[in-house]
Amino acid sequence: MVVSLIDTHCHLDSEGFHQDIDQVIQRATDTGVERMLTIGVDLETSQAAVLLANRYPCVSAVVGIQPNYAQEAKPGDWAAIEDLATHPRVVGVGETGLDKYWDVAPLEIQRDYFIRHIELSRRLNKPFVVHCREAEAEVVEVLQAEAGNGPLSGLMHSFCGGETTANICVNLGLYISFAGMLTFRKNEDLRAVAKLVPRDQLLVETDAPYLAPLPNRGKRNEPSWVRFTNDCLAQVHGLTPDEMAALTTANAKRLFRI
Ligand code: NI
Repeated sequence: MVVSLIDTHCHLDSEGFHQDIDQVIQRATDTGVERMLTIGVDLETSQAAVLLANRYPCVSAVVGIQPNYAQEAKPGDWAAIEDLATHPRVVGVGETGLDKYWDVAPLEIQRDYFIRHIELSRRLNKPFVVHCREAEAEVVEVLQAEAGNGPLSGLMHSFCGGETTANICVNLGLYISFAGMLTFRKNEDLRAVAKLVPRDQLLVETDAPYLAPLPNRGKRNEPSWVRFTNDCLAQVHGLTPDEMAALTTANAKRLFRI
């Protein structure tokens, strides 16, 4: 029997999937991926995510404005996201967070949108998805401040931060989601961090079409390959792949209420 997996973060609306989206989803289903969460980075891609979730029963949507797109968001886009987020096929809000690597939007604007997503998450009772790139201290600062307004429900997506950040996020009740980077040979440090995350707060994702895990590094990533990251995480925690799949799937279902 194939044990179920959930890919908690992928970009199925991406141009890389336009030609063969049916086959990509079929391959995922055939290899035990029971659900994929496709996520938007701006209004247009968030609308696309909802269309995909409407078309495929095994796809759910997450909608929001990613920090690198915060600057170019038009007036009215945020109101449209708030409206879209109430859609029954939408299970979370994001991507949100802070990104000092690309540095395309001023940090103040990114922070403003980050806080809006957390507030929307609270209002709708749907978790938020955090993108954090070279901004760990700043992200933690926002999260800690927001935790003062009540419990947080969310996850750190494609986590590649350090032990301190992981610990703080775990203590704030957030889930930690690992992507293909976990499998890369040189990322011993990341695996050491993954080992410290409590088992009931672990998630797996592909971030497809980006960041394909070993043994497919460098290729177009797709949800069926989430098992490579799950298997790596299993090894890190001294579990079988099936045991880890059961855990990460139960965790995703609990967080997103799917
Ligand atoms: Ni992403």
